[in-house]
Amino acid sequence: MKVTVIGAGAVGATCADNIARKELCNELVLLDIKEGVAEGKAQDMMQTATLLGFDTKIVGSTNDYSKTAGSDVVVITSGLPRKPGMTREELIGVNAGIVKSVCENVLKYSPDAIIIVISNPMDTMTYLALQSTELPKHRIIGMGGTLDSARFKYQLSQHLGCSPADLNAVVVGGHGDTTMIPLIRLATWNSTPVTNFLSTEQQEKIVKDTMVGGATLTALIGTSAWYAPGAAGAALVESIVRDEKKLFTCCVSLDGEYGQKDICLGVPVVIGRNGWEKILDFQLNDSEQAAFQKSADAVRSMNDVLKTL
Ligand code: APR
Repeated sequence: MKVTVIGAGAVGATCADNIARKELCNELVLLDIKEGVAEGKAQDMMQTATLLGFDTKIVGSTNDYSKTAGSDVVVITSGLPRKPGMTREELIGVNAGIVKSVCENVLKYSPDAIIIVISNPMDTMTYLALQSTELPKHRIIGMGGTLDSARFKYQLSQHLGCSPADLNAVVVGGHGDTTMIPLIRLATWNSTPVTNFLSTEQQEKIVKDTMVGGATLTALIGTSAWYAPGAAGAALVESIVRDEKKLFTCCVSLDGEYGQKDICLGVPVVIGRNGWEKILDFQLNDSEQAAFQKSADAVRSMNDVLKTL
């Protein structure tokens, strides 16, 4: 099994580190446009192999896509991160050019790869990847909801005083501060609705803090976060290469599901060796469905910006 991570910055390097530690593939390629960065980080990670006990071979590459040839999965993290006060949407102009050219280069050498998109604005970058490559829709997966759901579980665990591992909770819709929809009504703590244990005020706070989870970290750190985004990317790689068929919220192409067409948006999907294999219908209630429609409208107008670039 061979995996490539494009972009050896904060998110890409963290994602690669997680993939190597879990030995998800024999060969892992880290590629970046900046001279020497990917080679340096690959070597640094390889020097942890005996300390951490993994056997994955990590190769760095400065923009030489021939090294990525034959990859089964490619994770795209290349692009600008946001700075404090910026929305993910403000990154569209620069990141669209990067994601489009990266996809072209990737497919020249790995025509059968499954592509995971992390670059922001993630919903629009996933749509762009699908449109520009014309790959079968099951092979393009946007990571955002996986991260947002992990953040949602973190917020819930803080209020419930429980292990996040005991929680089931998903965030659907767009991967934006105002477009994501944490589905608190459906969240459970070992099969019991979390709403049984939380006041209305607590529920509202959890939802709000989840939605601005990324922006909160950007304000604290000065750039956008990387540990959870990198780990979320690696979790998707794991479910693909091990054909785990785990359920994640991912941004995928909708063809009537959840009332939407011609858009990539976060919905619950089964992830396995064929990419995203199945969309689950969580039967949203009227207000959740209205929020989903609002989210779709916002993402659609962002996608329209692509036509002007
Ligand atoms: N090809 C390959 N790598 C590129 C290209 C390109 N065309 N353009 C930029 N890069 C690389 C940069 O050189 C840099 O090393 O992408 C890397 C991005 O790393 P960071 O600046 O550290 O950004 P990071 O925090 O990793 O975020 C990357 O993920 O979560 C999103 O919003 C975030 O869009 C951003 C992306």
